[in-house]
Amino acid sequence: MNLAAEQISTRLSGITDPQGILRKGLALIEGPVALASSFSIEDIVLIDMLQQCERQVRIFAIDTGRLNEETLEIAETIRLRYGIEIDWYFPQQTAVEQLEREKGLFSFRESLENRHQCCHIRKVEPLQRALKGLAGWITGQRREQATTRGGLQPIEVDQVNGGIIKLNPLVYWSAEQTEDYLKQQRLPCNRLHQSGYLSIGCAPCSRAVQPGEDARAGRWWWENPEHKECGLHKR
Ligand code: ADX
Ligand code: SF4
Repeated sequence: MNLAAEQISTRLSGITDPQGILRKGLALIEGPVALASSFSIEDIVLIDMLQQCERQVRIFAIDTGRLNEETLEIAETIRLRYGIEIDWYFPQQTAVEQLEREKGLFSFRESLENRHQCCHIRKVEPLQRALKGLAGWITGQRREQATTRGGLQPIEVDQVNGGIIKLNPLVYWSAEQTEDYLKQQRLPCNRLHQSGYLSIGCAPCSRAVQPGEDARAGRWWWENPEHKECGLHKR
């Protein structure tokens, strides 16, 4: 059984480097564990770091049906590079069909409620299936990424998803540190980064940002910063 919330955070106190958080955090998770990957720079860095871990960690990805071609290309590049298996999860076919019949293909632009509905169908419900049977999961979230992530911890008890453990090894890293690791290890990344995309989700809800703009400015750009979460990381 996993440890209680109060106990686990103290076990990692003082550890700030991603490899240390991964190693120590994984040791605290008793049972199957998986990395959630959108094939962002952060997720690629973590996939690379996991190659040095003895622990068996599955990798799963959610294909929302609205991802960019470039995201699928980098996913395939990573799969072949490491010879790993990616567990892809798709939204429920009937839910997508009903949404598109009733509200069209871009309902998420019309209201926050519609946007949450689309994210729930295309991301959150598949995530719930992906997490079934797991004792813990790993994400590429960083504190610096968004105003909504300021209080992120390296290890958390994910109360929203049945009290399993959630590890965020890159929590303290800056964008620069993450990119430096990628360069040092000569790892590939999504081609959209070269076109000014700093944060990449679904194609119709992600765009390039201007120099100096916030990384999340290109995600759901018609919404206020405090709303820019899709529900994968409810706390
Ligand atoms: S989001 O909530 O705004 O979409 P973001 O793109 O910042 O999340 O990614 C943060 C982390 O969430 C990623 O590092 C990854 O662990 C997980 N994640 C995001 N999108 C997906 C996806 N499509 N499939 C699997 N994991 C994902
Ligand atoms: Fe739908 Fe956009 Fe959310 Fe993707 S990011 S699930 S297209 S609302």
